[in-house]
Amino acid sequence: MTETGFHDSEEGLACDGVPIARVADAEGTPIYVYAASVIRDRFRAFDDAFGAHPHAVHYALKANSTLAVLRLLQTLGAGADANSGGEIDVARRAGFLPSQIVFTGVGKRPDELAKAVSLGLKAINAESAGELARIDAIAVAEGKQANVALRVNPDIEAMSHPHISTGAHRNKFGVALGEAAAICREAAMRRGLRFAALHVHIGSQIEQVAPLRQAARAVVEVARALAADGIALDYVDMGGGVGIAYDDTGGLDLAEYASALLAEVAPSGLPLVLEPGRFVVGPAGVLLSRVVDVKTHPGGRTFVVLDAGMTECLRSALYGARHRIVPVTARVGTASGVDVVGPVCESSDSFGSDHQLPPLAVDDLVAILDTGAYGATMASNYNRRPMPAEALVDGGAWTLIRRRQTIDAMLAQES
Ligand code: LLP
Repeated sequence: MTETGFHDSEEGLACDGVPIARVADAEGTPIYVYAASVIRDRFRAFDDAFGAHPHAVHYALKANSTLAVLRLLQTLGAGADANSGGEIDVARRAGFLPSQIVFTGVGKRPDELAKAVSLGLKAINAESAGELARIDAIAVAEGKQANVALRVNPDIEAMSHPHISTGAHRNKFGVALGEAAAICREAAMRRGLRFAALHVHIGSQIEQVAPLRQAARAVVEVARALAADGIALDYVDMGGGVGIAYDDTGGLDLAEYASALLAEVAPSGLPLVLEPGRFVVGPAGVLLSRVVDVKTHPGGRTFVVLDAGMTECLRSALYGARHRIVPVTARVGTASGVDVVGPVCESSDSFGSDHQLPPLAVDDLVAILDTGAYGATMASNYNRRPMPAEALVDGGAWTLIRRRQTIDAMLAQES
């Protein structure tokens, strides 16, 4: 049986039996390579973890919204969590129906709200009383009723990186827990709104179950208070946030996460909506890059310079995220600690110090692991670098799912 996921082979690191050096040889670097088998397995594992409790898994597009990846998830039965008008459009093109899309986002523009209302999405997750009023006004003008949810800010520390913790009062997201019930009651009386759900999302790469459970409890309490007032919700949306293991430790245990949420939600009988991103696609992707220079400064610090950097994968520069980096084909020699850096003119353009790597030479291929989530979607054209190419391995063959951006494409909007 061929191995699935990323594994060693006679031709070096392989993905579902395909040596990934072949992809780099054919398409150049930097290039993301995704394993469809891993996306399938992880989506199903996530979905199965909630067992028979009525639930819908709305994949968070922001983690990876390349069309082929979305189409794959759509065929697996995922719904979509879109965070902008652009993500709604891309979800539609990937085949998601409006009834399969929830729309989140702390600053939705009027045109984005109008699009959401006219499509009739499953829910617009509103972030304030003002936004609910604006949605109502749009819906009434269009003679429609918009399905809405209210995002609650439970003032809970997710204990993740400060940049990606979203559930405390100092963060810009949602409405304070204590104000939620009153805002919902008011919204439920508006003609243009159908009050469908409560929503919470306290952060990303969360590695402890306690804050997630606490957030679920807080939301269910508000739902009960509303039910007592005759406002019955369709479901509660517990957002995303499940942390993955970027090395041998860390991450959140899926079974533990699901049972904690179910313990809070199941007694209420309310169906669940979940919005995982990273969990589904993070471990399913690697970024392939070639070494373009190797040098040692006086004092002994060695820099391995790659043709991928913060423009292709911003996570290390922005959050100090540590991704494992491995040579694609085995290299002989004793491993030593090196700085692995990108080509961009900033010292923040670094994948970190003290990566234990064997001696590498110019042109060697390396893989930056677990970059399937928030890799390609956060890429930029800084330094006029083109958006990277992306390939998907499925059924023992790879296909290019996004061509490397050309300079003409980059300049197409300019005069
Ligand atoms: N739902 C909402 C409302 C969100 O804001 C997010 C992520 C998710 C779901 C998905 O969260 P996940 O399951 O992937 O943790 N760029 C950062 C992560 C930012 C996450 C933003 N919101 C990173 O590279 O770590």
